[in-house]
Amino acid sequence: MSDPHTIDPELIQKLVHDALVWSSLHGLVVGDRNVERSGLVPGVGMVHAPIALLPNSFPEVQWNQACELAPIFNKLVDRVSLDGKFLQDTLSRTKKVDAFTSRLLDIHSRMLQIGKKEDIRLGLHRSDYMLDEKTNLLLQIELNTISCSFSGLGCLVSDLHRSLLSYYKKQLGLDSQKVPINASASKFAEVLAKAWTEYSNPSAVVMVVVQPGERNMYDQHWLTATLKERHNVTSIRKTLAEIDAQGKILADGTLQVDGETVAVIYFRAGYAPTDYPSESEWKARLLMEESSAIKCPSISYHLTGTKKVQQELAKPNVLESFLENKDDIAKVRECFAGLWSLDDLDAVKSAIQKPEAYVMKPQREGGGNNIYGDDVKETLLRLQKEGSEEEAAYILMQRIFPAVFPTVLVRDGICYKEHAVSELGIFSAYLRNKETVISNEQCGYLMRTKVSSSNEGGVAAGFAVLDSLYLI
Ligand SMILES: Nc1ncnc2c1ncn2[C@@H]1O[C@H](COP(=O)(O)OP(=O)(O)O)[C@@H](O)[C@H]1O
Ligand SMILES: [Mg+2]
Repeated sequence: MSDPHTIDPELIQKLVHDALVWSSLHGLVVGDRNVERSGLVPGVGMVHAPIALLPNSFPEVQWNQACELAPIFNKLVDRVSLDGKFLQDTLSRTKKVDAFTSRLLDIHSRMLQIGKKEDIRLGLHRSDYMLDEKTNLLLQIELNTISCSFSGLGCLVSDLHRSLLSYYKKQLGLDSQKVPINASASKFAEVLAKAWTEYSNPSAVVMVVVQPGERNMYDQHWLTATLKERHNVTSIRKTLAEIDAQGKILADGTLQVDGETVAVIYFRAGYAPTDYPSESEWKARLLMEESSAIKCPSISYHLTGTKKVQQELAKPNVLESFLENKDDIAKVRECFAGLWSLDDLDAVKSAIQKPEAYVMKPQREGGGNNIYGDDVKETLLRLQKEGSEEEAAYILMQRIFPAVFPTVLVRDGICYKEHAVSELGIFSAYLRNKETVISNEQCGYLMRTKVSSSNEGGVAAGFAVLDSLYLI
């Protein structure tokens, strides 16, 4: 694709106008921060989602590679989740210094103690990658196993870009078919419906666990509206505090919340310490885990998605204990960037000497937590000096440098010419009931593009925009 900065300014204005109209009419929207009630009342204070005006070039080879990895990672998550000892051992040092991870591990231990088995297992995942410019390698940033956002809106961005490319085919000279079909919302809804069917109770509902005042609610409503319209499955939305207040487990393990029987619990909250401001939220989490409802994710799937587990899996010979197929193992390993724990003294020494080549990550999700550049060096030196256990709260990762490209971003109706980098997220779903794998598939994608001067990639956190891709 040519440089969008060179597109005639009048054409850009037309494209922006059409993109804004399209987004408003097709529900590519988020709650507007400037409107107080926008996170509380649907339909109040909506604004178009922040977007890239045109899709970004992405090589077809690495696109195919990312798609092929999806079912393999799903299987890997499932296998790892079944190894309770591996999860507990891997996170044992983190547990001592990270109160949040420690609470999650306590719930996990309790499930091990009572011998809780999850026969029906559902994962809705997003594996994020960056394409390293120098080596041209597709490298995994992280694998999200809880609350993966933008499966509802991601597919709309692809549709928007396809529409713009076909309306303006003459002027732009681009082929809309090069934007891969993206069915993220309908695919996730379909697998949620299949999980609901496995639960075998026609009057039960899907419960979406939400943050109070969620402004990214339309992304979630896309899934639940599709669930209702296409699959006739009802859903309810509850915060962790509401679940604590209104939830109970019946003698046979059934979870009831507000009088409704819950077949599937779909978490769009519960991944960050701030989601648990009091004991009430932790009680709700434990209650759900103890119940017979299908959890997306279960505590084991959640822990499998931690950064510490990612780093452990990257150690020699660890993948081999979870996957048997040599090709699969090779494919997964190929996308692993360098990952180290802070007790690796050589890695720490190298990171102090060359901090710009590393990222330091705590066990957190949701963006805005990583340490970059000189702060890596300072933090490592401080930890060394203090000789504290706190180092176990972090992992070190090779910093990936994707190509910087010119792009046009639209936020709040205003268009910005920027230089940016992209991160490709591949959605995938895994559903099994005992020995039967019902779904294991790639479910569309999300490209996130962020201004190249910003280190973090969160769209909700305000650093990035939603994007799609144009295969080259
Ligand atoms: N190794 C890396 N190299 C370059 N950028 C990275 C790296 N790891 C993370 N980032 C950037 O930081 C963001 C947040 O990191 P991530 O591991 O995805 O944590 P979170 O759970 O907060 O999303 C990513 O979206 C990406 O933009
Ligand atoms: Mg991330």
